[in-house]
Amino acid sequence: MKGLTEKSLWMLPLFRMDRRYFLKSTAFLGGSLFAWSLLGGCLGAAELKPYEARDFSRLKGMKVFSNQLLEQHFTLYQGYVKNTNLLLEQLAQMAKQGQTQSPTYAELKRRLGWEFDGMRLHELYFGNLGGTGEIKKDGKLAKLIAEQFGSFDAWAADFKAVGAMRGIGWAVLYLDATRGRLVNTWINEHDVGHLVGGQPLLIMDVFEHAYMTDYGINRGAYIEAFFKNIDWAAAESRLSS
Ligand SMILES: [Fe+2]
Repeated sequence: MKGLTEKSLWMLPLFRMDRRYFLKSTAFLGGSLFAWSLLGGCLGAAELKPYEARDFSRLKGMKVFSNQLLEQHFTLYQGYVKNTNLLLEQLAQMAKQGQTQSPTYAELKRRLGWEFDGMRLHELYFGNLGGTGEIKKDGKLAKLIAEQFGSFDAWAADFKAVGAMRGIGWAVLYLDATRGRLVNTWINEHDVGHLVGGQPLLIMDVFEHAYMTDYGINRGAYIEAFFKNIDWAAAESRLSS
């Protein structure tokens, strides 16, 4: 070994062992970094697609709601989708920049539920409109309603009473899946009053924008119109979703 002095020859085995160790270590480290980068790609760097507004234009031409009312309502719904995406983006940026202790972050986080629920509730609402209002009497949902409320009419009276409550919000027929129990309930605005773990089956919007264009302040007439246009097949399909 040219260049090695007698004094340094004793270090040769150690040098060789270190070199082998070094090579093994670098291979292990390289492998680990590769695996970590893959994991990071899966967990941290995954690109999440923004929410997209759904097209409910099939509802246009309904007898009981004018196209003007529906178009205005679709525009409002699109605003919830847009703001949900905006908030999620802003919150992610703030988290990256370490701004999670700021009051702005806290307020935007609180706002997220309002916008997100506004988006999702409208999708469920439009999704259970456009039908004939006739429930399949021997269907699973009709049977559940009759069993638990005594009759369809008794359930309908209760649901309409929820919808007639003063305030702005939503009437919802929920299934508490843990007990198989149906519950008519009121959602205040978009985000207060949800039943944890509940599956929304039927949704009725009772914000004024849902009816004032066609019915003025006559919410009762709007509720009757809504009932004549429920798509009960859509509501029943949510039992298994
Ligand atoms: Fe609405």
